Amino acid sequence: MGAEPLEIHLEQQDLDRGLREDVRVGLTATPKWLPPKWFYDARGSELFEEITRLPEYYPTRAERAVLAAHADDVAATTGAKTLIELGSGSSEKTRLLLDAFTRHGDLGTFVPLDVSVSALRGSTEQIAAAYPGLRVRGIVGDFTRHLDRLPTGGRRLVAFLGGTIGNLLPVERAEFLTAMRAALEAGDWLLVGTDLVKDPAVVVPAYDDAAGVTAEFNRNVLRVINRELGADFDLTAFRHVAVWDPEREWIEMRLRAERPTRARVLDLDVAFAAGEELRTEVSAKFRPEGIAAELRAAGFDRQEFWTDPDGLFGVSLARAD
Ligand code: SAH
Ligand code: TRP
Repeated sequence: MGAEPLEIHLEQQDLDRGLREDVRVGLTATPKWLPPKWFYDARGSELFEEITRLPEYYPTRAERAVLAAHADDVAATTGAKTLIELGSGSSEKTRLLLDAFTRHGDLGTFVPLDVSVSALRGSTEQIAAAYPGLRVRGIVGDFTRHLDRLPTGGRRLVAFLGGTIGNLLPVERAEFLTAMRAALEAGDWLLVGTDLVKDPAVVVPAYDDAAGVTAEFNRNVLRVINRELGADFDLTAFRHVAVWDPEREWIEMRLRAERPTRARVLDLDVAFAAGEELRTEVSAKFRPEGIAAELRAAGFDRQEFWTDPDGLFGVSLARAD
């Protein structure tokens, strides 16, 4: 059984409209900012995959270690019939879950959801080929908008891996968890991966690697805006910066104009002073009790919390109450 045709909840015109709105709001704000989902065109998705293989980028390896150790527990505890994955990307680590469900229970359907069509095309074909008998239904959608359109029926497990929940701002995160709970029935499950608070000397290089891949990934958002909106950002004017914020316990990615530069975007003339920064992404780091409290506030009861042996990354398994 091959993958089913992708279900498109985000058409090119929705994406264009969303990008135009976000660009207008973010680039006229002080300080300037852009939301992170626009990193992930085909090139951005590939650059992210490259990030996951960098020596400095520990989250992917640490989360994979947790899943390798506990995927069987997840399968046995949840007994899910449908596995939904949000921000699925390549779904590479998710195979550990699919393997465990193959050993345990009877998972029938896998539903990866992502804004990136290119990532979904690749992952759905590969997963369908590797797991014959599994129904693979890819959804092109936005997990901040389309949770009400997830498939229903049968016990569901929603996986949200990679620490992507940390890329939402705290208010957005609470809204996300509330919407997630509303989309589920009591007894459904949420598996969420969170990077943990640790020495900034470990965190910062993961977001500012020696080979400069993260810098390329960060600048890719300007490339997307140039291409999609016919803008003329001079990418060479911007330097990638990663700053640890000790109060909010998040790392912030920015693009710093190294010299005065301007860009025509839509009908805007956007000027950057030398040294001016554009915030492109935050990646929050969590404390074990904090995650449990946020889950509880949204109507989830955390039943399990696992970390890798080095305590770098945490995975929470929570039941919808
Ligand atoms: N889950 C994978 C990929 C994480 S990278 C892993 O753990 O390695 C984040 C993924 O989320 C990317 O594939 C990106 O395209 C997707 N994404 C980002 N914002 C999104 C949004 N608002 N809605 C849906 N997908 C989103
Ligand atoms: N979810 C990933 C994380 O927070 C996304 C990410 C990794 C990222 N490296 C990045 C986003 C660099 C922007 C820039 O770790």
